[in-house]
Amino acid sequence: MGRDVMIFDTTLRDGEQAPGNSMTPEAKLRLAHQLDALCVDVIEAGFPSASEGDFRGVRTVAEEIRRPVIAALARCHERDIEAAGEALRPAARGRVHVFIATSELHLQHKLRITPEQCLERACAAVRQARRYTDDVEFSAEDATRTDIDFLCRVVEAAIEAGATTINLPDTVGYAMPAEYAEMFRVVRGRVPNSDRAVFSAHCHDDLGLAVANSLAAIEAGAGQVECTVNGIGERAGNAALEEIVMAGRVRPQAAAFACRVNTREIFRMSQLLSHVTGVFPQPNKAVVGRNAFAHEAGIHQHGMLQNGLTYEIMRPEEVGVPHSTLVLGKHSGRHALERRYSELGYELDEITLKKLYQEFTELADKKREILDEDLLALLHDRFHDAPEIHRLTHLQVTCGTVPATAEVRLAGPWSGERTGTATGNGPIAATIAAIGAIVERQIEVLNLSVQSVTPGRDSLGQVLVQVRVDGKTLSGHGASTDIVEASARALVHALNKAKYADGLEEQSLNAMYFWGV
Ligand code: KIV
Ligand code: ZN
Repeated sequence: MGRDVMIFDTTLRDGEQAPGNSMTPEAKLRLAHQLDALCVDVIEAGFPSASEGDFRGVRTVAEEIRRPVIAALARCHERDIEAAGEALRPAARGRVHVFIATSELHLQHKLRITPEQCLERACAAVRQARRYTDDVEFSAEDATRTDIDFLCRVVEAAIEAGATTINLPDTVGYAMPAEYAEMFRVVRGRVPNSDRAVFSAHCHDDLGLAVANSLAAIEAGAGQVECTVNGIGERAGNAALEEIVMAGRVRPQAAAFACRVNTREIFRMSQLLSHVTGVFPQPNKAVVGRNAFAHEAGIHQHGMLQNGLTYEIMRPEEVGVPHSTLVLGKHSGRHALERRYSELGYELDEITLKKLYQEFTELADKKREILDEDLLALLHDRFHDAPEIHRLTHLQVTCGTVPATAEVRLAGPWSGERTGTATGNGPIAATIAAIGAIVERQIEVLNLSVQSVTPGRDSLGQVLVQVRVDGKTLSGHGASTDIVEASARALVHALNKAKYADGLEEQSLNAMYFWGV
């Protein structure tokens, strides 16, 4: 086993920055709890100067999550650094992460400053950040397209000013593994005070090389890698946390590093994130994709039956993929449900258990066998990262060889029950139109994916949607044995988030986090 490498998770910052991935402070907190269970070393919780919501997201995570370092991003601007420092004030261990572009291209065309001005800003920013915390990270944005002599000057000056971590990002996913490794070797070798900082890799996946580049940087001495769960992030995304970690675990000789990540929490983390963003990883995604452990070809199945190692380099259990075992049925009681959730790693409070038990019995009436995956889908569905301003109380659809028509009823704490009817070129389209008519908002569906939670005809269908509501992109999720109902639930969830984002009567709504509580 090689040297220790810190896992810096930026799902809540770089991951959130991608269109459609915006997260409420509540969603960030829930994800941060799971990142803590995953045992990452650093959680970058947001960019506090970007918005009030971002500030609150970082503040909430800093207040609640005590073990990992909590980082906040800031440009090299006084106001940004002030916001980051303030948001991190309650943190047990806070890190201010300042960045400025260093490539000629960015300096000339984006920032319109000279290299000397860039150097001055970088140093001033690091010094200001040090007034808030001793843990300051400096990133040279677009490092891989920066003149190497200038990059060395900036890095040396940033360390001199007090930076304790130096990040050399491949911002546009341009580098090849050998080049990226060479950059780390050259900078670490040439900069006289390089031993006073931890070097960090941060790779984007535009050429599909983010994980390979991150592993190359580790080999060249990086002591930290920045990555996101499911590889979410700007454009083609960031380096995927689960792939870096499992590469180290499966190939300890070739990728010789150690990290603290509890790999058994990986799948749970990936699923939770999918529910928050409204996007599942692609089916063939390494480690967490639906087909990552599926063996279809007869020759592979034969080999697997003889010896699992023939076609499987890691066991699904190692990354926490639940077995599809029959666990509960119609006659199972509340205690059995509570125990099974506990075995799956979830301790439920009384209120949540009560609600889940009710939903479980309704599901058991429709579906004979309740599997672990069904229980997890019910649990994710209960999590509301926005108050339930609208709740689906009725849905009736006719479709077939006639035009599809949907009648929908929504209830809300102030508005009472309202009904809408609409037609569409399919049952889901009609349902979406009926909901749109009730809430009187412009709804554009950007993405709607349906996935069966378990095999079999009576499976629970899980729907994730990304919608644009009056110009804002939001996601939602819903589950039901009926995919039209699951779609309606997913849309209602997204609309609740839209309303929450509008900041409507925020104070009183917080107290109504769960319906009827
Ligand atoms: O990709 C990048 O350069 C970044 C920096 C802000 C670290 O995300
Ligand atoms: Zn980035």
